Amino acid sequence: MSAVSLLGEITEVGRDGRRGGYSRHVFDRAEGELRTWFAEQARRRGLDVETDRNGNMWAWWGTPDAGAVVTGSHLDSVPGGGAFDGPLGVVSALDAVDSLRTQGFQPRRPIAVVVFAEEEGGRFGVPCLGSRLLTGQLDADKARALRDPDGVTFAEAAARAGIDHERFGRDDESLSRIGTFVELHVEQGQGMFALDAPVAVGSTVLAHGRWRFTFTGQGNHAGTTLMADRRDPMLPAASLVTAARRIGSKIEGARATVGRLVPRPGGTNVIPTAVDVWLDARVGSNECLLPMVGEIAGIAEAAAAREGCAVRIAKESYGGEVSFDGSLREELVSLLGGVPVLPTGAGHDAAILSTHVPAAMLYVRNPTGVSHSPEEFAEDDDVLRGAEALARVLEHLST
Ligand code: GLV
Ligand code: MN
Ligand code: MN
Repeated sequence: MSAVSLLGEITEVGRDGRRGGYSRHVFDRAEGELRTWFAEQARRRGLDVETDRNGNMWAWWGTPDAGAVVTGSHLDSVPGGGAFDGPLGVVSALDAVDSLRTQGFQPRRPIAVVVFAEEEGGRFGVPCLGSRLLTGQLDADKARALRDPDGVTFAEAAARAGIDHERFGRDDESLSRIGTFVELHVEQGQGMFALDAPVAVGSTVLAHGRWRFTFTGQGNHAGTTLMADRRDPMLPAASLVTAARRIGSKIEGARATVGRLVPRPGGTNVIPTAVDVWLDARVGSNECLLPMVGEIAGIAEAAAAREGCAVRIAKESYGGEVSFDGSLREELVSLLGGVPVLPTGAGHDAAILSTHVPAAMLYVRNPTGVSHSPEEFAEDDDVLRGAEALARVLEHLST
């Protein structure tokens, strides 16, 4: 079945009528429905499905064993995200398996399609939660205690999905089976559109961290509290937003974003008691990231002090700059006829895995260049070309 038809099958799952696009968050109804759909697709193909200790799903063509060629991506989305970020890699993997079988191909090494849990961190805050747990890059106790906006812990959500959270943690058995990992993904920029290239190979991923700033002041009445008497935590929160833009803009290749700001209690005529602000910061070199965040944080702390507010800063996630395996990259470029090689600012499970196994990314052209938004797009022809390229890669690596 083609990747385009497979995407068509899930086009209604997790549509977000309020935000637009899709909201599919780990272990919620929509993502659960997609997991069931994936398991059913795998079974129809005679692939053996298992869910590992950390909630990642695997579908095996051949006996699970060391040296497997693993491909796949994720089915969760950001709030109000696009149709392609994540699912494209999963449906392309299923399409590639189908076309290899139609050609009568017999893999010499097992092939697995994987669906990673909570790649976006859209529910529990930490991106690539499933692959970080698998590789031991995230402590199991920390993961268990993560809370979603409703206060549900990751452990509770996993238990409700039938996963034993006592078994969370580095999974050497699953890890040792991965010989090579290749993730196909929609491009999250217009680099390939500019190069007129439907398919490309990934080179690097920016260093990336997320920090949560909690500003606290004094909740009070918007009409009766004189301006001079206020301790309003929204003021330092606003300074953080503008500092992120200012400091992020002066560092070559850096990105600093505030995409989430929650005042408490949140009323038009209420000076907030507290404001939570999340900073997403990325830059090309590990040495630059922490000083950049330090400078932004310093401005926010000074603004808090001026307003008589307190601030607490918590690092929620961090990952260093990643450069994908050079020889695997060159191998794929030449296999695919000299396709371009592109860096990205977006995080991927492949980047997490790359510190343990040879890993690569394949990108599919996105003419809008937009991602994490309903405007994210890929033409059907390009989706098919991407799946075809992935089939060639799997064939090559498993021979
Ligand atoms: C995930 O797509 C990220 O880069 O945040
Ligand atoms: Mn994403
Ligand atoms: Mn993604």
